[in-house]
Amino acid sequence: MMPVSASAPGKIILLGEHAVVYGQPALAVPVDALQATAHIEPAPPGSGLVIDASDVGLRLSLAEAAVEALSLTARLVLDHLQAPEPDALISLTSSIPVASGLGSGAAVSAALARALGQFLGEPFDDATLSGLVFEVEKLHHGTPSGIDNTVICYGQPVYFVRGHPPETLRVPAPLHLVVGDTGHPSPTRETVGAVRQAWQRDPATYDALFARVGALVTAAREAIEEGLHGTLGALMTQNQALLRQMGVSSPELEALIEAALAAGALGAKLSGGGGGGNMIALTHPGETAALAAALRAAGAAQVVETVVS
Ligand code: PMV
Repeated sequence: MMPVSASAPGKIILLGEHAVVYGQPALAVPVDALQATAHIEPAPPGSGLVIDASDVGLRLSLAEAAVEALSLTARLVLDHLQAPEPDALISLTSSIPVASGLGSGAAVSAALARALGQFLGEPFDDATLSGLVFEVEKLHHGTPSGIDNTVICYGQPVYFVRGHPPETLRVPAPLHLVVGDTGHPSPTRETVGAVRQAWQRDPATYDALFARVGALVTAAREAIEEGLHGTLGALMTQNQALLRQMGVSSPELEALIEAALAAGALGAKLSGGGGGGNMIALTHPGETAALAAALRAAGAAQVVETVVS
């Protein structure tokens, strides 16, 4: 068997996080500047499958590993292909910040599964890969909607409704976005769980919030497909107001969002689970550097500029 490498991008949710768990639509796009990569090479006979993620201080041998995301991914791939455990070393690297709403868990699993399928001579199509990664997402998220594995495995902008095949989101006029990291990791499982508890206490209020998010997503899809970026920005900022009412914003997110809007962004909101993690801002081409500088000045731990087309 020959050495192989495979990658998967990070992602941002443009609109619709949390409400998407309850059946509303959402829009997500890959962030190609951030990638998880898996490299596999053959190892001496009898070594079994070893997964090395030295970035996060993890090295495990499949035969001995407890069930966690990486070993589960490898086991799901081997089960799916009905392949015996190969003698191989998988090295994982990722530039996607962990627990920050950028899909790092799904991207690492997708890169690993994609590389292992290729290594075994049975590359996965996007839909199969997405299905496998969805199983792993349940460990991270508890009740994932499936949006992360979908956008990351297909690697293109998507309009997503839970339980349905993704629809391609056309982006005729490139979207210039700046992603600002609060530097405060926030596991998605916790914010998703908090929203679920709040919804159980007060379903009428939360169902109404989710429905309003869904309406914004429908309008945003139209705005993107017609190239109306001013309209899209306003819809993003309205989505942020609803996320704040759901209780998933944070003072650090609010500070970065306020700084982005003050610097002239067309719209800004948290992206992903919230409670910390990342925010995104939409801007005019040519104004991304100034916006990035404003976010750094407001305390962003990391800023990534990305263009979606
Ligand atoms: O993985 P994150 O933090 O980008 O969150 C995913 C989006 C949620 O809607 C909050 C959860 C889900 O499963 O859709």
